[in-house]
Amino acid sequence: MDKVIGIISASGGVGKSAVAALLGREFSSRGSTAAVELGSSRSLDIMLGADAAYDIRDVFEDIDTLDDALSPTDHPGLSLIQAADERFEADPELFESIVNRLRADYDYVVIDTQTGNHKAADAAAKTADSLVMVITLDSVCIRESAKMADYLETKHGKKILLALNKIELPIKSSYDLDAVIDQIGCRLIGILPYDKNIFAAGAKPGKKTAWAAARNITKRLMGIDVPLMFR
Ligand SMILES: Nc1ncnc2c1ncn2[C@@H]1O[C@H](COP(=O)(O)OP(=O)(O)OP(=O)(O)O)[C@@H](O)[C@H]1O
Ligand SMILES: [Mg+2]
Repeated sequence: MDKVIGIISASGGVGKSAVAALLGREFSSRGSTAAVELGSSRSLDIMLGADAAYDIRDVFEDIDTLDDALSPTDHPGLSLIQAADERFEADPELFESIVNRLRADYDYVVIDTQTGNHKAADAAAKTADSLVMVITLDSVCIRESAKMADYLETKHGKKILLALNKIELPIKSSYDLDAVIDQIGCRLIGILPYDKNIFAAGAKPGKKTAWAAARNITKRLMGIDVPLMFR
């Protein structure tokens, strides 16, 4: 079964980190989970509630800092390796060794990548069992996502799954989702609604929340047949 999930996107700000945080939370209710921020842009420490002394660059420099870099979060069973605070080279071979250690110690690993950092996307694509590409219904994002999917599938031979994010409900009948999916050429794994309370304190999975939609994505990644969003 897939246990290492890489979250990628071609455009910035589409919700990679938000999806990584939600999936990390969901996986951690099913087994021990490590979330890794691969890059130099920190978000998950705030989204998951973590206060770490070490970061991913420390682990690249000395793999023996791995255990110290795995910081507890506000969610039991979910640990985080936060992003570096400045740019660094994420060597794909070294990253594979790091992920292999995590594979041995955790049931699930969720990797958040950094927009525009092609090395990070390559390193995640090389090592992940599944790649989830977060997209929004924006023409530029769709065109760039098609290019990125083509590049990563050709280079790494991995299938990419699409998570459509920030969708206003109810979904407008004028949206041609099939055309979007055809243009990118990847399977849809889930649809997350725009949710203004996505990380509000005390938020609950509720019925029509991004959290509930992420729960369904997690189940679909585990091979459980549930709707793309929610009923
Ligand atoms: N479904 C959603 N509903 C409402 N807001 C969302 C949703 N998904 C993400 N956001 C918000 O959009 C903003 C950008 O999200 P996020 O940081 O996850 O994007 P990103 O793709 O990781 O960005 P970057 O390219 O900088 O890494 C954040 O403020 C986040 O809380
Ligand atoms: Mg991010």
